[in-house]
Amino acid sequence: MTDNEFISVKSLKSPKGAFILGHLPQFNTYNKHQVLERWVEESGELFKIHFVGKEFVVSANPDFNNKVLRMRPDTFKRFSKIDEVLKEMGVDGVFNAEGDVWKRQRKPIADALSVKNVKAFYPIILDKTETILEKFKRYSENETVVDVQKEFMAFTIDITTEIAFGHKLDTINNKSNGFQKHLEVIFPMINSRVTAPFPIWRYFKKEKDKTLDRSLKSIEKVIYEFIDDAKNRIEENPKLKEEPSNFLEALLVENKDVKFTDKEIYGNVFTMLLAGEDTTSNSLSWAVFYLAQHQEIVAEVRDEAKVVYGAKDVPSTYEDIESLKFANAIAQEAMRLKPTTPQLYLESKEDVVVNNVSIPKGTSIILQNKVAQTEEGNFSNANAFEPERWMASECPMHKKHSPNVMRAFGGGARYCPGMHLAKSEMIVLISTLCKHFDFKLEVKPEEIRERFEFTMYPENLKVTLMPAR
Ligand code: HEM
Repeated sequence: MTDNEFISVKSLKSPKGAFILGHLPQFNTYNKHQVLERWVEESGELFKIHFVGKEFVVSANPDFNNKVLRMRPDTFKRFSKIDEVLKEMGVDGVFNAEGDVWKRQRKPIADALSVKNVKAFYPIILDKTETILEKFKRYSENETVVDVQKEFMAFTIDITTEIAFGHKLDTINNKSNGFQKHLEVIFPMINSRVTAPFPIWRYFKKEKDKTLDRSLKSIEKVIYEFIDDAKNRIEENPKLKEEPSNFLEALLVENKDVKFTDKEIYGNVFTMLLAGEDTTSNSLSWAVFYLAQHQEIVAEVRDEAKVVYGAKDVPSTYEDIESLKFANAIAQEAMRLKPTTPQLYLESKEDVVVNNVSIPKGTSIILQNKVAQTEEGNFSNANAFEPERWMASECPMHKKHSPNVMRAFGGGARYCPGMHLAKSEMIVLISTLCKHFDFKLEVKPEEIRERFEFTMYPENLKVTLMPAR
């Protein structure tokens, strides 16, 4: 193939933008992911945009996106501005690490979140499920209007901190001194800083920057409590040096292969907290958004729960999860229609050709992954919530079903290491809640907006819970 056969970035078309600011004014909004989707409709699967001269290639082509994701860590990395913004906040961990540092950090994270470990830690997931169930029963008795996204976030924080750091928090019962509130401040600020054309906060701090600083300080205090506690446990029980019982202990224990610096340990505890909570709680919230509009589907999940764990309140063994196929289908379908990470931001580390597009070193790329997940060519009746499509009993001959275009957890060597934990949390909670309750939306579905703040969540989702009949 000669140079002339390649498509250059320069020759890609562009949606309509402003003269100097380019596409920034349109993108600077609460739903930038939907703006990207509109641009895909307008300009096709591959195009370019610019923010005050800074150019981005946008791809919504699943094959192109898959190739780019798989060319990591060598040829593509995360968008460097993400690293800059995260590091400035002290979040210097596996999500933004590159090269050898990333390889070194990825291993203990992947080990800690392996299928084997999620299985071993299942009693923790169960304990938190029982705790939130008791809380939801009280809500149901009192007919309280529930902000489920916040409740699910507490659920995921408590699970991550106990599984990964060996620390019990009880955020579900609001016993963590505002820790959740401080964590909630972080993602919106990462989002606004990553897309800011100029780092104004370094010269002039607005109120939101000062709030961020205060939250970072409070989070730092809690993270050091986790670290000090883990150090004490290791001191008291030297056996843990040989066999650390969780992720944080594994980072703290020196072994012949690696020694993590204090900064790496702190950064990775912070990373785990951030990566594990919003993503999972948002996905659970979207599942409830749909379930509340489909009582007949809630009844099916309930029937499955009755068969799998009978008279018990919760699925008491890890093996139960594998049998909860319909609850799993709900989770998959919610993530297909409402992926909480609809786009990923990357950058090329060298000159490279992907398909026939010639991409120079340093090119920023946005991989738009959602459009393919809701396209008729990939899924029949693509915009409808139809969890049965994920059941093996569905006849594949009559319907389009392309699970290979799903990128809710990313792809390639840097795919989400928390996938198995997240799916387990989702299946158990969806099944348990449907077993005990019917959901009623307290706002019209059209008043529940998709909002993007580094992850995408349902703004204004409020439900009441009625005891299952
Ligand atoms: C439904 C829930 C979740 C979703 C949708 C999700 C999604 C993602 C996505 C899209 C990525 C980027 C992948 C890529 O670049 O290819 C990612 C990375 C990551 N996720 Fe998750 N995630 C979820 C839950 C979790 C949980 C529960 C944890 C841990 C407690 C976790 C830890 C991480 C980490 C550490 C990374 C960085 C991996 C790396 O760069 O090597 N995630 N996640």
